[in-house]
Amino acid sequence: MLVENNVALQPMNTFGIAARAQRLVRLRSVDDLLGLMASPDWRQPSAEHPVFVLGGGSNLVLTGDLKAVVLKVEIAGRRLVEETDKGWLVEAGGGEGWHDFVHWTLEQGWPGLENMALIPGTVGAAPVQNIGAYGVELQDRFHSLDAMDLETGRMFSLDAAQCGFGYRDSVFKHAPSDERSFGLKGRALITRVRFWLPKPWKPVLGYLDLERKMDETGIRQPDARQIFDWVVAIRRAKLPDPAVIGNAGSFFKNPTVTPEQCADIIARDPKVVHYPMDDGSIKLAAGWLIDACGWKGKTMGHAGVYDKQALVLVNRGDDEHPCTGGEVMTLAKAIQTSVYERFGIRLEPEPVVI
Ligand code: EPU
Repeated sequence: MLVENNVALQPMNTFGIAARAQRLVRLRSVDDLLGLMASPDWRQPSAEHPVFVLGGGSNLVLTGDLKAVVLKVEIAGRRLVEETDKGWLVEAGGGEGWHDFVHWTLEQGWPGLENMALIPGTVGAAPVQNIGAYGVELQDRFHSLDAMDLETGRMFSLDAAQCGFGYRDSVFKHAPSDERSFGLKGRALITRVRFWLPKPWKPVLGYLDLERKMDETGIRQPDARQIFDWVVAIRRAKLPDPAVIGNAGSFFKNPTVTPEQCADIIARDPKVVHYPMDDGSIKLAAGWLIDACGWKGKTMGHAGVYDKQALVLVNRGDDEHPCTGGEVMTLAKAIQTSVYERFGIRLEPEPVVI
């Protein structure tokens, strides 16, 4: 356990927003965590003594300095728990980098996570927003996780049903007082996550960008490594590399509407990108809606809209004039207003804003 005071958070959030934490504790093991909670300084999370659990900082907008004690999860380790004729059960520490973990599983010959290659962030943060890309969501491969209840000091495990996964959503994003009374926001620290990778492996190739790759290359039966390489190439072409241009991935969730609302929009904008969902609702591409309102490539203050993907807001500041969280949120609100005025749809931000 390493305790630091007055810590610059700019290198710890992929948006590259300048902010400081009064106190940050790096946790490399469950023992570190138990040691912290047994120390006389420790206060249970509460309104007066807030605690913030930080992973890779890749889905985060910091709107100011943090008064909360920041717990930076750096718990490492990855292993095969079990292999049966039905699949592989693989486990990783919450602090492992997500992409490195995906790459490692493929190197070991355990396919299943390839569609989620190159998503920034850590393994421990992945269940929080139920990460997903190119037709696969974390919940499709999730087995269970271990976490610490920061209020009681007890470890507990959750299976997929108990995590309450939804589209970019889980029990970890909801406060206990939310409509989901079992919300664990601000209370749980995920230490380990287990994934179930079923046999026989089946490729997931339904996403348009992957179909295009099959057409371009003529490869009709790609293996998992090939899909991994395609996803990496697609993401590199469309999404800004946070090491070069600060960003937090998609800034808004793709909204769902009723078929009637969708028909109304199609009548006015026949090109609107929409996908029918299993429950009868229609999902709209938020990137298309923002693009249609003319935002692609625009800048407000030191925050901007990425010129290749309008769903991604980027840091256009520099060392002298860094982009602030306030500027990001001002731009986000302006986008929300124009999408609402044109389409009657309220876009919901995806990252955690603190
Ligand atoms: N589009 C535009 N203009 C734009 C951006 C998108 O017209 O500026 C259109 C595209 O042409 C396409 C459609 O919108 O027809 C969807 O775009 P894309 O395939 O890039 O996917 P997305 O819906 O924008 C989602 C996830 C991404 C994930 C990709 C691939 C959300 C909020 N975002 O983006 O996840 O990588 O699908 O599966 O669901 C993230 O969550 O941070 C993230 C990057």
